Amino acid sequence: MKESTRRSQGWFGKTGKDGLIYRSWFQKQGIPTHEMAGKPIIGICNTWSELTPCNSHFRELAEFVKKGVLEAGGYPVEFPVMSLGETVMKPTAMLFRNLASMDTEESIRANPLDGVVLLCGCDKTTPSLVMGACSVDIPTIVVSGGPMLTGRYRGRQISTSDIWRFSEDSRAGKINQEELFEAERGLCRSDGHCGVMGTASTMACMVESLGLTLPGNAAIPAPDTGRKILAHLSGMEIVKMVENDIKPSDILTREAFENSIMVNAAIGGSTNFVIHLLAIAGRIGVDLTLDDFDKFSQNIPLMANLQPSGMYFMEDFYYAGGLPPIIRQLKDHLNNESITVTGRGIGDVNSIFFDYNEEVIAGIDKPFNPTSGIVVLKGNLCETGAIIKPSAASPELMKHTGKAIVFEDIDDYKNKIDDPDLDIDETSVMILKNVGPKGYPGMPEVGNMGLPPKVLAKGITDMVRISDGRMSGTGFGTVVLHATPESAEGGNFAVVQTGDMIELDVQARKLNVLVSDEELDRRKAAWKRPAPLVERGYVGLYIKHVEQANLGADLDFLKGSSGSEVSKDSH
Ligand code: FES
Repeated sequence: MKESTRRSQGWFGKTGKDGLIYRSWFQKQGIPTHEMAGKPIIGICNTWSELTPCNSHFRELAEFVKKGVLEAGGYPVEFPVMSLGETVMKPTAMLFRNLASMDTEESIRANPLDGVVLLCGCDKTTPSLVMGACSVDIPTIVVSGGPMLTGRYRGRQISTSDIWRFSEDSRAGKINQEELFEAERGLCRSDGHCGVMGTASTMACMVESLGLTLPGNAAIPAPDTGRKILAHLSGMEIVKMVENDIKPSDILTREAFENSIMVNAAIGGSTNFVIHLLAIAGRIGVDLTLDDFDKFSQNIPLMANLQPSGMYFMEDFYYAGGLPPIIRQLKDHLNNESITVTGRGIGDVNSIFFDYNEEVIAGIDKPFNPTSGIVVLKGNLCETGAIIKPSAASPELMKHTGKAIVFEDIDDYKNKIDDPDLDIDETSVMILKNVGPKGYPGMPEVGNMGLPPKVLAKGITDMVRISDGRMSGTGFGTVVLHATPESAEGGNFAVVQTGDMIELDVQARKLNVLVSDEELDRRKAAWKRPAPLVERGYVGLYIKHVEQANLGADLDFLKGSSGSEVSKDSH
């Protein structure tokens, strides 16, 4: 792109009062005018925060991006956006994904940027930044922070998925608080996000498979030298992208989304992939539906033997070759011509990787599990769909009919679940209502609710669980999620009752409550919409405007793009 047509020239290329102000205030930072003059201005959008421990190394990572930008002849400017720390934000980081996306979008659009590097790590920091960048559509590359090293507990390897095992062992009285403290000390050993194929790693694989990163981005551990080098190379690449005017809308075609769904199936990615990919598609204007996840997942086996669907950790995935060998092996399924940030097709940029460890990454003809991906369930308990991840579920529960034990909300669940008199056994179907986008609000990751102690005491580790909420990408079990319409919106899920029989048949894609239509209609006629929990501020706005999970749970007015043009000056 010629200097005269660069976006930043609308600021720094001006004469008169406006140009004086724009340039003079940059000089104030000790930047001589000649140092920036004529160079593409590259924003480094940073989600560093001490409240987001997974992203706490991002100030250092940004320095390596800057070196790459400078080496390639650009000028880097780092700026902060809202950071979303999964472990600490209440009521749930998901409530703020759309807010962070607005911050990202407006921060990019309002400023003199020709291209942008998104520094993403902890779960929601990836989709929020990508959503925001898509709604502006200037050249964009993603650099992930990388997973942390594998943890240790009493001589064995552990990571985030073990939290659920420790929790159930503690509730069943098998380990005590001292042992939990010991696990706590060994769990998080280094910089980086969760070290299994949870949501953060799934998001890192998602952006790599969409073509928004350099190849190999997803798996490099945060403390590995390779992460710094990737950051440097990405800084160089974004300058080329500006020169060649490669924008998200050039990369994120319908075919790229199909590729990403297939890759997600092969790695056993998080169920959160669904809600975030739908939201990104909505921003870039690609017509993606819930049914596409089932359609393009079919025939793709589980190739990555990674927790929570398998045995190994993200550190092992890196040593085994990372995502490129998976993409290369899927070449007969993928749209190989879909371009990446490099301008080259995804098949082409991944063709040079050939060594991998078959214990961690299976050959496509001898996979770890022939079933993978996301199954979309339909039926009268989820009229507009629900999802399940078969690779993380128990095969014997994939077809199951049992009596519903309904918890009206999360407090009802917490109050009842440890009660020895609760009428529940391992054949029951646990149902949790009011944890959807509007009902909670924010759709928390509570869908893999813990089992009752009296069932755990029998050595049972899984039961069918159904909710209108989400599950942590590190979680597992026969867990049906994202039931829509959510219970706060009415529909059959709002009126299912304890004692109703529930039929789940994953193979047949069915989820039904075995109650007559007349009875369901009678219950719905008596149902009253709850008053909004919050009216004020962002949360009030969110409750009014958030869409259902089967559409991506974006705010309805944020869909699409406002572009990168800003015609008015600030003075
Ligand atoms: Fe940040 Fe898991 S808590 S990635």
